[in-house]
Amino acid sequence: MSAARRPLPPSSSLPAIRSLNDQPETCILSALGDLYVLYCPLPTSLTFQTYSTPKDPPAAVDSGYASDNDEDKSEDEDECGFELRDDPYERAFAERWLTSFLSRAEELTCFKSEDSQQHAIDKASCVLASFFRQDEEENLEDIEITRDYRFNLNLGSYEAKEISESTESEMITVQLTDGLAGRDNADHTDVGLQSWGAAFIFTELMCASPARFNFSRDNLGSAPRIIELGAGTGLVGIALGKILPRLGVSLPRIIATDFHPTVLANLEANIIKNFSSLGLGKDSVSIQVAPLDWETPDLSAPLDEQVDVLIATDVIYGPQHAVWLRDCAARMLKPDGVFWLMLTVRTTGKFEGISGTVRASFDGRHGIRNPHGCVLTILDEECFARPRGIGRGDESEYRLFKIGWAS
Ligand SMILES: C[S@@+](CC[C@H](N)C(=O)[O-])C[C@H]1O[C@@H](n2cnc3c(N)ncnc32)[C@H](O)[C@@H]1O
Repeated sequence: MSAARRPLPPSSSLPAIRSLNDQPETCILSALGDLYVLYCPLPTSLTFQTYSTPKDPPAAVDSGYASDNDEDKSEDEDECGFELRDDPYERAFAERWLTSFLSRAEELTCFKSEDSQQHAIDKASCVLASFFRQDEEENLEDIEITRDYRFNLNLGSYEAKEISESTESEMITVQLTDGLAGRDNADHTDVGLQSWGAAFIFTELMCASPARFNFSRDNLGSAPRIIELGAGTGLVGIALGKILPRLGVSLPRIIATDFHPTVLANLEANIIKNFSSLGLGKDSVSIQVAPLDWETPDLSAPLDEQVDVLIATDVIYGPQHAVWLRDCAARMLKPDGVFWLMLTVRTTGKFEGISGTVRASFDGRHGIRNPHGCVLTILDEECFARPRGIGRGDESEYRLFKIGWAS
């Protein structure tokens, strides 16, 4: 890593907001990098993103999963910005600048690519969020973000039950609270406090084409059991809980699982928010949260029955994840069950090569066999480009794997 420069006061170093389009992209990225270094100090030997000097090429967008080790970071580096960081005038100036920048960022034409624009937006949001984080008087609720996401459910030949044929009956709304991942700087495992691109794309696909997933009364029968692995904020499971009754699937039983305590608490709150006001009819959905760690899975109740459908989005970002998930799926999936796995492909940095672990782990020749002699394998694979406005800059594409037992 290049040596860090002494941070300059935001009020004298940030480019004027009105002239941003006249600035080279490197100037804006460098200004954001300086703000990041100044206001997001990290514990010794940890950096969330590498610091780029004006001469460096734009740093790759960090997926936010974990920090890079930066052994060169010296204590002096941190001390040099200490006084500046505590200066209320400079902080207020930086806050105003970041707010204005974010309100215009989508329209700025000075960025050479969508990726660098997204990188700049991510970085600005990150610094702005850190201001809220630093304020001890604000509690978690104040810095959580709750949004309504709407998806158009294509009912196709399925008949909407007890719902008139209005446009609204085809709209699925999911209300989600994203917590602030990495709120505790020492914890880089709470990535499930955010909703990731793969979850949105998977939900869009489910709604646009439920038949692609065989989500119908005929295929799933009554009271199908469905488990989501690494559910995070719960978007997919919650959407499914709203979709299935509209497709005529009665009494679906959905369990959203994760391993991180804070993520589980946020997940549970999201589920309550989405389902507490719905009346319990004869076709009502049962949706609950349960802890499950793929590395050491405890398959006691309520996870003790095999399932018809397993779902997981963006859960492969460590070298062992695919193997752990395969071993879980082998124990959890019924002989005729299907595991829908949406992989996010990241080709840069520490994630390089990780996407290949899915095919290696679910390889029909060497895979796990069940007592019937069937092997857990990839039955189908589809690739999706990242649509504009969804996902982060380092997500290059998404792959949907249909995994099941084959003889
Ligand atoms: C990138 S997030 C994706 C969350 C969600 N599926 C989405 O697409 O928005 C990865 C999720 O996997 C969970 N996870 C990571 N390692 C896990 C493990 N060993 N066991 C269970 N969940 C895990 C994380 O807590 C997080 O919720």
